Amino acid sequence: MAKQIAVIGAGLMGSGIAQVAAQAGYEVVLRDVTDAALTRGLDGIKSSYQRFTAKGKLSEEDAGAALARISTTTDLDAVGSADLVVEAVFEQLEVKQELFAALDRIARPGAVLASNTSAIPITRIAAATERPESVVGTHFFSPVPMMQLCELVRGYKTSDETLAAAREFAEGVGKTCVVVNRDVAGFVTTRLISALVVEAARLYESGVATAEDIDAACRLGFGHAMGPLQTADLTGVDILLHATRNIYTETQDEKFAPPEIMARMVTAGDLGRKSGRGFYGYQD
Ligand SMILES: NC(=O)c1ccc[n+]([C@@H]2O[C@H](COP(=O)([O-])OP(=O)(O)OC[C@H]3O[C@@H](n4cnc5c(N)ncnc54)[C@H](O)[C@@H]3O)[C@@H](O)[C@H]2O)c1
Repeated sequence: MAKQIAVIGAGLMGSGIAQVAAQAGYEVVLRDVTDAALTRGLDGIKSSYQRFTAKGKLSEEDAGAALARISTTTDLDAVGSADLVVEAVFEQLEVKQELFAALDRIARPGAVLASNTSAIPITRIAAATERPESVVGTHFFSPVPMMQLCELVRGYKTSDETLAAAREFAEGVGKTCVVVNRDVAGFVTTRLISALVVEAARLYESGVATAEDIDAACRLGFGHAMGPLQTADLTGVDILLHATRNIYTETQDEKFAPPEIMARMVTAGDLGRKSGRGFYGYQD
């Protein structure tokens, strides 16, 4: 089992991955580009551990021990001894490719290089390295400590050993894995939610039903925990628009052509919960 891991990017996802890994007993090196980002990430981890201890789900002692297993750094060379590196930086191909090219020089031979990308084909990230067989997608979900799923994504050259090591890590931190055998844009989960959100937005845009009724149809008719427009507001209309455009660009499949309303909402700043208005208002 990988004993030492590195997480690159201390944002929402990177800090969550570092948190569950440390709790599972891994030594974690958490790397970001600025001390401010590392402090923010570590503060988030501390308050999450505090919430778990307050609820009696984690002892103070175990929380302290987990926190002590996380070290932070702005120095990329510090990830050189990790058995597994999980990248969780911005969702931009160029940023990820530049990072993986550097990891290729720094990471120890045989290390697993994982990306938490939600939609970028792993093959494109792996192509920045001389060891594409060691590159794999480990797509965790937000909030990482709560969400059960990890989507494991094979690039064109990902080896069986790499996939197995990624599975061992994800299961080791308590997740259930699904395997995506071909790294199509959007993988399985983003494909599914994009198709649903796009169709829901079209129905809403054309006045077929209200947002409330579209969401109620999915909740009550199909047992979904949340309706698609509520999900869009929670995830960010901008994030889903971007994901859907990527899938449309790759597939040219009209079902992923983003409806006009999503683009107009993003231009107007109605991004969902984070901006106070999306398909619903959140002023309160
Ligand atoms: N937010 C979600 O719900 C979610 C869910 C699943 C997957 N993802 C994916 O996870 C990844 C991270 O998303 P996030 O929401 O945590 O982003 P975020 O913006 O919260 O954090 C990104 C972090 O990466 C850092 N960073 C940027 N370039 C870096 C570099 N070269 N080296 C080190 N650190 C660098 C930034 O300073 C920032 O702290 C993205 O690929 C995203 O698509 C996000």
